[in-house]
Amino acid sequence: MTQQHFTKSILIFGAKDHIGSAVAKYIKQHSPETKIRLATHKKENLGLLNTMFPDLEAVVADFFDIDSLRSALQGIESVFQISPDVFHEDDLVNNMLTACEEAGSIKHIVRILGTPPDASFDIIPAELKKFRYYPAMQHLVARERYRDSGLPVTFVNVAGYYMDDFLRMFSPPLFEEKTIRVAFNKTLAWVDHVDVADLSAKLLLSTPTEYIGKTLDITGKDLLQFSEVAALFTKILGVKVKYDGDEENFYRSIKPVFSQLWGEKAPKYFMKYFEWETQHDHLFTLTHHVKEILGREPKSFAAWINEHREIFFSEWEKNFISTSKKYQESIH
Ligand SMILES: NC(=O)c1ccc[n+]([C@@H]2O[C@H](COP(=O)([O-])OP(=O)(O)OC[C@H]3O[C@@H](n4cnc5c(N)ncnc54)[C@H](OP(=O)(O)O)[C@@H]3O)[C@@H](O)[C@H]2O)c1
Repeated sequence: MTQQHFTKSILIFGAKDHIGSAVAKYIKQHSPETKIRLATHKKENLGLLNTMFPDLEAVVADFFDIDSLRSALQGIESVFQISPDVFHEDDLVNNMLTACEEAGSIKHIVRILGTPPDASFDIIPAELKKFRYYPAMQHLVARERYRDSGLPVTFVNVAGYYMDDFLRMFSPPLFEEKTIRVAFNKTLAWVDHVDVADLSAKLLLSTPTEYIGKTLDITGKDLLQFSEVAALFTKILGVKVKYDGDEENFYRSIKPVFSQLWGEKAPKYFMKYFEWETQHDHLFTLTHHVKEILGREPKSFAAWINEHREIFFSEWEKNFISTSKKYQESIH
């Protein structure tokens, strides 16, 4: 990888969350002279950022508020850009282009994508294409728009699912019933968010021109179906973790959360999207970018489960105590 120059300043979006915060930690540790500016789009999160990183500058910057972008990009050379699921990527790229051109100092942007490797608009069916800002389309839209913009962007594609989904969106049935409840038992590459963050941070610090405009598909070391993930949890933790791939159960479990987050059409959309991903699960393969760029192995799923074992046991203990308490109350 060609080191182009020393990166003097980096703006990190999503800095309070799992990848953004790990990007900030990596940069602080590996390049203490680089000025780091942390961003959140909500003023009420500034306190949290100040607590997490008391010695770093934290600002409010919203992709849809051009003035906040202008001020956050002042004097910045490199940008870490991540979008949440379901996002107006056209407006985001338009605003980034305007604000970056005005800033005049931007040398490199790392944008996180989340799309099966080699997916293109051609393989997305019409019923998913209608939803331009939902996951099947949103990252392809963002990449196309960024490429058209001429901004110097490297695309870091999370080419699978995050392992820490089992501490986030897939956690309720795992914590409450020791069950992985996800329909469509597809084969996926499993990715550690810290691997994604470290690799992104290293690219931001070194600005390698060979990757600009390209997509780096990032994976860990495991290609596993959900049922195989349940078996791995069982093996590593020594506690039976079941797999429930029933579509009705899964739909019932995502419906309230997804409709609250993205509206009443979202649960049905996501069922179609997960089904489409399953039909294309042959696209998920393991890649070597973590080893090549970071010079170390990516995290294996077994190591990740082992590292987080205390969290799982403590959740299971809490449920055991609350179930026993309920039982005690019921018999008195
Ligand atoms: N779940 C998976 O397994 C998986 C797999 C592959 C790819 N992906 C993709 O990965 C991407 C990131 O997911 P994630 O879970 O890692 O997300 P995340 O940690 O929630 O990051 C998204 C960030 O966007 C920031 N944000 C939200 N609205 C904003 C706005 N208007 N302006 C500026 N910043 C804004 C949020 O920070 P503030 O609220 O503090 O601003 C948040 O930290 C998603 O697009 C998803 O499709 C997910």
